[in-house]
Amino acid sequence: MYKSEQLALSLKHLIESGVWKPNEKLPSLRQQAETSGFSLITVMNAYQELEAQGLIYSKEKLGYFMTEDPNTIKIAKTVILNEKIEINSTIFRYLKSIQSEDIIPFGIAFPDSQLLYSPKLMQTLGQRAKHRLSYEQMPSLPPGNLDLRKLIAQRYCMQGIPTDPSDIVITSGGLDALNLSLQTLTKPGDYILLQETVFYGAWQATEHLGLKVITIPVHPEHGLDLDAFKNAITHYPIKVCLLMLNSQNPIGFTVSDAIKLQLAKLLQEHQIYLIEDDVYEELYFGHKKPLSMKYFDQQNRVLHCSSFSKTLGAGFRVGWVYAGKFSESIQHLQLMSTLSVNSFIQNALAEYLSHRYYEKHLKTLRNTLKRLKNQYYQYLIKNLPDNCQVHYYPSGYFLWITLPAYIDGNRVYHHMLEHKVSIAPGSLFYRSEKIPHHIRINCSFELNDKTQNALDLLTQYIAHYESNP
Ligand SMILES: Cc1ncc(COP(=O)(O)O)c(C=O)c1O
Repeated sequence: MYKSEQLALSLKHLIESGVWKPNEKLPSLRQQAETSGFSLITVMNAYQELEAQGLIYSKEKLGYFMTEDPNTIKIAKTVILNEKIEINSTIFRYLKSIQSEDIIPFGIAFPDSQLLYSPKLMQTLGQRAKHRLSYEQMPSLPPGNLDLRKLIAQRYCMQGIPTDPSDIVITSGGLDALNLSLQTLTKPGDYILLQETVFYGAWQATEHLGLKVITIPVHPEHGLDLDAFKNAITHYPIKVCLLMLNSQNPIGFTVSDAIKLQLAKLLQEHQIYLIEDDVYEELYFGHKKPLSMKYFDQQNRVLHCSSFSKTLGAGFRVGWVYAGKFSESIQHLQLMSTLSVNSFIQNALAEYLSHRYYEKHLKTLRNTLKRLKNQYYQYLIKNLPDNCQVHYYPSGYFLWITLPAYIDGNRVYHHMLEHKVSIAPGSLFYRSEKIPHHIRINCSFELNDKTQNALDLLTQYIAHYESNP
């Protein structure tokens, strides 16, 4: 964090606690520099930041004054500006730390590989490998294999989303789809809106592209807080938001159709683009696949990103973006980076998806994940202290756990790692001054002696920590 951000944040806390009355004059720049120990320029930057947030205003030659609008202060409590994101090194260290094969991988982001890589797909890959044409031909250039794009387009059509194969660009996984979409729609210094607690790849992408991030809180009931969303887009010049609305990682919620519809209207009214991260779209437990925002999109404002990483195998690195009118610009960016996605794998996936194997595989995968998630949930609510909250949502394979506020998720992670068990600490998913008191557990692994032992260790450690804070 920059010094000016630090100072702006502590001044914001003072403002929120009511230290200054509406229209009261704030200490002058010089006074503030003396009391805070920061330089004049730092103080000036901090004041300007608070002014941009509408918390204070300036009068020429007179100085800075408190806003008279109490609503702005309420908004400031929920909508947060993060100017300089520095998370990539933390994620890098974390991912390296959990890589070893002898670690029980409750911290990883992919389902147990035993559940992916379906035998039929492996058979298709083997057969394709014998046809030299499938890998000797020219690399499949952007936008990617036409057959595969046709099949993906068909899946959108089945959900009531009219789609042409030319709307789809095949990418190197979902993360590439998100990065390319962001790169297409933003330039460094632009404002982007994220949920407060999100998949760390979103933070990394904003760091990489030098974006200013506005976060809105997660609504405890609806997942997406529409009021905070409205406040954020009216107070900041936001042109793009990146949201997960189905089986959100890490928390797990799925936003209702009613809220999605309202969100679509707001995007339209305020001319905002949405990059929708929907990589868990197939992992629902109910009878009906949740709709994506693309369904509600009348004006081509949604770039829908998804991938086969969570359903067929992360190792294939095949994803896509429903890019619509942005297809060309995304392909241009691809030509300067990955050039093309592995053509052999694309061919094999197209062949596999053209049969009914995929639907059967998805059905089995969903049933297994549902069974495992229920088992882990039952175990955790029985064995964790009562003041821990395990958030259960009927989709995906993550359980998000809120620990008592004094239990540091990072300490739980380090302790478990010493015992060769990984978990994902909350600090990977949000930026907070407070103790990051959350953890995420991947519950896609069958319960056997090893995984059961690992869960016992985890619950015992948390119980011990809870009674010896
Ligand atoms: C929410 C979310 N989006 C995107 C990705 C990246 O997917 P892929 O492996 O296809 O790049 C992940 C992977 O963990 C994810 O959890």
